[in-house]
Amino acid sequence: MIGAQWGDEGKGKIVDLLTDRVSAVVRFQGGHNAGHTLVINGAKTVLHLVPSGILRAGVQCLLGNGVVVSPPALFAELDKLEGSAIDIAGRLMVSPACPLVLPSHVALDRAREARRGDHAIGTTCRGIGPAYEDKVGRRAVRVADLEDERALSERVRELLDLHNFMLERYYGEQPIDAARTLDELSVAGRRLLPMMGDVAEALRVARAAGHNVLFEGAQGSLLDIDHGTYPFVTSSNTMAAAAALGAGVGPGYIDSVLGVAKAYTTRVGGGPFPTELTDALGERLRSVGYEFGATTGRPRRCGWLDVVVLRRALLASSVNALCLTKLDVLDGLDTLRIAVAYRWRGKRLDYPPATAEALAGCEPVYEDLPGWQGATAGATRIEDLPAGARRYLERIETLLGVPIVIVSTGAERGHTIILSDTFV
Ligand code: GDP
Ligand code: IMO
Ligand code: MG
Repeated sequence: MIGAQWGDEGKGKIVDLLTDRVSAVVRFQGGHNAGHTLVINGAKTVLHLVPSGILRAGVQCLLGNGVVVSPPALFAELDKLEGSAIDIAGRLMVSPACPLVLPSHVALDRAREARRGDHAIGTTCRGIGPAYEDKVGRRAVRVADLEDERALSERVRELLDLHNFMLERYYGEQPIDAARTLDELSVAGRRLLPMMGDVAEALRVARAAGHNVLFEGAQGSLLDIDHGTYPFVTSSNTMAAAAALGAGVGPGYIDSVLGVAKAYTTRVGGGPFPTELTDALGERLRSVGYEFGATTGRPRRCGWLDVVVLRRALLASSVNALCLTKLDVLDGLDTLRIAVAYRWRGKRLDYPPATAEALAGCEPVYEDLPGWQGATAGATRIEDLPAGARRYLERIETLLGVPIVIVSTGAERGHTIILSDTFV
C-alpha cells in the first residue's frame, strides 16, 4: 500500500482496516516524519514509526532495513501504546540494518531549513534527510552497531566530528556532544537490541505459511526522492518497488499494489501544487477535512483532485487497485473540479513535467462535475451514496483506468465501503 499523492492520504486508516486479514505489517521506508492516524470507536492513535497493524492483537509489526529509526521517537511511541493497554510485547521487529536517526541529524535538518529561508523545503525537522545522506555516504550508525560498544564509540565519534564541523563552521550552530549521544545510544541499545531480528526471514516464514503480509508505505508518490517534485521531496523512495528493497525480499513478494488517494489533494511543506486552492474553498477543505499535519500540526495546503499526479503514481508503482479516502469532505459542494491534464507553455501535458520549476508553471486543465446534496459521511454501502458521489467515483476510475476497491467515508475504522477483495 502506497500513498498516491503528497502524503497524508489516509494510509494509516486503511492499513489498520486491512490488518484483520494479515499476519504482519512492514514499514519499508521513511521514519518518524510519517504520521498515520487510526480512529477506532472515537479513540485516535497517531503512529509515526510503529506499523499501523499494532492495534490488532497478534499482528507482527516489522521495521525493514529501509526505515531510518530514531530510538527515542520509537520508545515514546511504544510507551504511549503500552499506556493505552496495547500489548506490544514481542510484536515489534527491527532490522539490524536500519540506520539510526541521531540528535545531530535533527540539528542539521533544522540548521539547513533555517539557512534556506524562503526556499525552505518545509521538512518535518525530524533529521530524516541527513540520516539518509549518511546511509548513502556509508557512514551511518545502524541498529546492529549498538551491539558492540567499542566499535560504536569509534563510529559515533567519527560521525559527530563531521556533523559538528558542519554545524559549527558552516551553519554557525552549537555542536552536539558525542559523549552524550553515546550514553543515549548505550541506553537505547538495551531496549532496541532485543527487538532486532531478520525481517526478510520473518516475511519468508509468513509467506510459506500462506499468510497475507501488508507493506505499509509512508509519505506519498510525489514525495519520492527520484520521482517526486525534487527538491521538495522526502529522502527515500516511496514507490511500491521500495517495499522489496526496504524489507529485504524480492519483487515476487508483491502480489498486488493498493494506491491510496484522497478525493481531493493536499500537501504540507513547500513545493509546487498546481490544483492548490488558496481561497475560501481551500479553507473549507482544510476545516471540514481537518487538514493539519499529524506529525507537526502544520496546516495542510488543499486543492482539487489532480489526475495528472495520480497517473504518475499509478505508473511508477504498478498500482492495480485504488482506495479513495475522505469522500465525505466533499459533501455539499455545488461543483467539483478534477485536473485531467496540465497546460504548460502552450502544450498539453498528461504527466507531470520533470522539474519542480516546470510544474510550478503548469496550469491545470479542469473538468467540472456536479457535486451532490446529501451525505456520504459514514456510509458503508455504495448503494447509500448519492448518485453524484457515485458518478464522481466512476469518472475517476475511467480517467485512471484502475478500479476503486475501497472508499473511505470517515476517519473511523468502520466508515468504509469495501468494493472488492484487496488480497489476491
Ligand atoms: P496518512 O499519513 O496517510 O496515514 O494520513 P494522516 O493520518 O496523516 O491524515 C489523514 C487524516 O484524515 C487523519 O486525520 C485521518 O483520521 C483522517 N481520515 C482518514 N480517512 C478519512 C475519511 O475517509 N474521511 C475523513 N473525514 N477523515 C479521514
Ligand atoms: P505520511 O506518511 C505528508 C513532507 C514534508 C516536507 C517533505 C520533506 O504521514 O503521509 P522530511 O521531513 O521527510 O525531510 O520532509 O516531505 N513529508 C510529508 N508530508 N505526509 C508525510 O508522511 C510526510 N513526510 C514528509 O512536509 O514537505
Ligand atoms: Mg500523515
